[in-house]
This record gives sequence, structure tokens and C-alpha cells, in this order.
Amino acid sequence: MTKKIAVIGGDGIGVEITVEARRVLNKIAEKYGHEFKYTNVLMGGVAIDELGTPLPEETINVCKASDAVLLGAVGGPKWDVGPGHLRPEAGLLGIRGALGLFANLRPVKLFDALADECLLKNSKKIDMVIVRELIGGAYFGKRETYIDENGAKAAYDTMLYRDWEIERIAKVAFKLALKRTGNVVSVDKANVLDSSRLWREVVHNVYAGNEDYKRINLSDMLVDNAAMQLVREPGQFDVIVTENLFGDILSDEASVLTGSLGMLPSASLAENSVGLFEPCHGSAPDIAGQNKANPIAMLLSSAMMLRLSFDMEQEALDIENAVEKVLAKGFRTGDIYRGNDGTKLVGCTEMGDAVIAEL
Ligand code: IPM
Ligand code: MG
Repeated sequence: MTKKIAVIGGDGIGVEITVEARRVLNKIAEKYGHEFKYTNVLMGGVAIDELGTPLPEETINVCKASDAVLLGAVGGPKWDVGPGHLRPEAGLLGIRGALGLFANLRPVKLFDALADECLLKNSKKIDMVIVRELIGGAYFGKRETYIDENGAKAAYDTMLYRDWEIERIAKVAFKLALKRTGNVVSVDKANVLDSSRLWREVVHNVYAGNEDYKRINLSDMLVDNAAMQLVREPGQFDVIVTENLFGDILSDEASVLTGSLGMLPSASLAENSVGLFEPCHGSAPDIAGQNKANPIAMLLSSAMMLRLSFDMEQEALDIENAVEKVLAKGFRTGDIYRGNDGTKLVGCTEMGDAVIAEL
């Protein structure tokens, strides 16, 4: 198969981890007789520097004309001074919006080899997916910073959801749950927020409206409790479905259960358009360009691309198994290295080499 992949390296370690993703994907292509055609496009800080905007038109066009998008990371202190619309993050939110990427899947799985990296005593069987609504809520609602009638500086953001936005993300979660253990926890703040009360109502309507969902066990959890339960007993979760901001926060929290944020991949999917695959971590400017980054979240995101956008299940499994073996053999980037346990500290490139060697 021939597939067109738009690659957004972005800023910081985004560049080096996407290089590793391409090398690993090329190995897969070689092994299975596929052809992956990459087009590099600019987004984030690098696009601000070169073109004066975090999300050039050209980038949107190339992404739309591709079969999938791979994204490293964007952002860095250099660009933290600009107004909201001229920050690297605006590029990320812009591409999510432009491609209609409403469903963000963040699998949180603790590899056996990293069990000791998990900060929890009670760390067995951590294997969940956070389904985060990605283009609604406070991230995309009306916002303003202004001076009020008493001269105070004021600002607000609006967390708005329409029923159909909740319906479509709920369906993604239920469909996913049917392929897993069938346990869905819908996270909201329905004891306080109107948008959460609507969320809860719609999620339950979707659930009741489909015979196929009968075998799913749906429960609701308030977001503060969910934050606590994630560290108290993470093994209770299978699929978590939640709105944009709650999903952002809970997924960072959940990531440390896997040893490092550097292990967490993600897939952002649209109804009828190209998907985007990116690690959940950021651009880590402090270690950028030093061959210290952990490319595993990026590699696992590439595996998600193969599975979800290209229907290449075996190829995806190959990458996931290779990562598992490399970890079992003791290869560790700095974020998951503790020393004194026979493991071997490697750089980003060497980690890529090790995965390729397994393939
Ligand atoms: C994420 C990131 C982004 C988000 C930032 C970089 C805008 O934290 O993908 O989780 O908040 O969505
Ligand atoms: Mg985040």
C-alpha cells in the first residue's frame, strides 16, 4: 500500500522524535512492501519564526490531502510571550479544529518491564484508554480579557457543549469499549456545571439508545473523584470518556502511571477526515537537540496511525511488540532510567535503533 503522511516535527524534541518515527515506519514499509510518502510541514514556534503564523494555510492543505498526520510537539519559552493567537499552541488547536479531530484516544498501559517505574505501590493491570473530547469546551468557547466597570482586569473562558458534540464522542467511547472489557466511566462535574449535566444526560441517552451497548457497564464519576481514583486504584478503569479540559488534565496524571509522560501516545480522529497522531507530551525544550528524548510515545503513536488510519493491524502490533522487547532488554531513555538495576541508558537515536533492530 502507498500512503501519504504529513509530518509536523514542530519544536523542541518534536523534531528528533519524528525522525525516529520515520525511520521505524520505513523499516515497516520495507518489511511489508508498503510505501510511505512523507511531506514535512511547519507548525508551532518554527512556523511563527519562518512565516509569522503558528499554522500556515499550506500546512492545513497538505494535512487535508494526506492519509494521516504525524505530529511531534510544539511550543517553547521563546514563544510564550506572544498573544494567544500567536503562540505555538494556537497552531495545535487550529489543526485539531481544521481537521475536525473531535476524538482523542490516549491509551495508558503499563509495560511489564516498567512496573518499577510506576509510582504506585498497587500498580498491577494498568491498561485504560482516555477518550478525550478535543474540539469543544473551554478550549474552543468564547473567551475574553477585558477591564470591567470597576476598572478590574477580568477574563473568562466558556465551557460550552452541544448535544451532538457529546453524542459523537460518547459513541466513540462505547464502540471502543465493545472491543475491550466493556467498562466505561464518564467523567464530569455534574454537581456544579450545566455543561456537565448535559454531558451526563446525553451520554446516558446514547447508551440507552443502542442495543449493542447493553453489555457495556456505564458509570459516572465526578472529575475530582476521578483524579483521586486514578492514583488510588488505576486498575478499575478501562475506558474513560470526558470533555476536553478534564481529559487534558487526567491524561497527564494517568501518564505517570506508565512510568513517564514520554510513554503515552495518542490518536486524534475525525468523522470523515484524516487522523492525527502525536505523543501526549510536549516539546521539552530543556532537553531538545541533545539526543535525550524518549521517542517511544511517538513510535506508539505511529503504531496507532497504522492501525486506525491504514488498517495495518499486524504492522502496528509489530511496533508495539518491538517496543515491549526493547524495554524488556533494558534499554531506557533518561526519563525512565533509574540506574543500578542492570538497565542501559540510551539516547533518542539509540532507542530508535533498538526498536528497528527488533523489527
Ligand atoms: C495536550 C497538550 C495541549 C492541550 C497543549 C499543548 C495545548 O497539553 O495535547 O494534552 O492542552 O491539549
Ligand atoms: Mg495536555
